Amino acid sequence: MIITIGNTKGGVGKTTIACNLAVCAALDGKKVLLIDADTQGSSMAFRASRESTDIKAMSITTPTLHKDLNDFNSIDLIIIDAGGRDSTVFRSAILASDLLVIPSMPSQVDFWAVNDVLDLLKEARIYKDIKAYFLLNQMQTNTILSKEAKEAIDGFDADVRPLETVINARIAYKKSFGEGKSVLEWTDPKAKEEITNLYNEILSLR
Ligand SMILES: Nc1ncnc2c1ncn2[C@@H]1O[C@H](COP(=O)(O)OP(=O)(O)OP(=O)(O)O)[C@@H](O)[C@H]1O
Ligand SMILES: [Mg+2]
Repeated sequence: MIITIGNTKGGVGKTTIACNLAVCAALDGKKVLLIDADTQGSSMAFRASRESTDIKAMSITTPTLHKDLNDFNSIDLIIIDAGGRDSTVFRSAILASDLLVIPSMPSQVDFWAVNDVLDLLKEARIYKDIKAYFLLNQMQTNTILSKEAKEAIDGFDADVRPLETVINARIAYKKSFGEGKSVLEWTDPKAKEEITNLYNEILSLR
């Protein structure tokens, strides 16, 4: 299975989510390959600061990504961290994937930016049936905002629904990342639960 965690908008949590999911899958016994498709290289930096060798990481920042990934049959799960700096690379990542997860922060500015992603997704869906879901990230534990954000998503003209799992803003995501660790290897049980729920929900979508 190939999953892209992508959004053309910067700073929405693509790298944080991609790296945490990669470690979660590895801890679940899966062979995981993390592809950094962003020239900024943050997922590669995460791998470099991680002592454990349980996840493999590679940087592919060319629009041939969807062709290059054809030969990785021994890998259970490929997770692509796709930035929006180059839309041809992002398009290639979407085309490579079975599932697109679009992290988004619960603000109107971020929702407006999502239309760029939906346009790329619509193009890719001409060639391939790609499931796509929004993931609300950096939520404040405020249920009214959460409800409003889900309503905003319902207004989009595309077959993209929000995932049930919501990721809250938590210090654990920032602190663990810097040490090459996932929140599963950190001290905040709520963050652990969120990433575990996200992983299980994604697996259940197959
Ligand atoms: N759930 C969260 N709680 C707290 N901080 C978070 C959370 N998700 C992401 N962050 C923080 O927000 C910032 C941006 O996250 P991240 O680098 O993962 O986003 P990105 O979409 O990959 O950004 P870029 O566009 O620069 O690649 C980082 O400082 C990260 O630690
Ligand atoms: Mg990033």
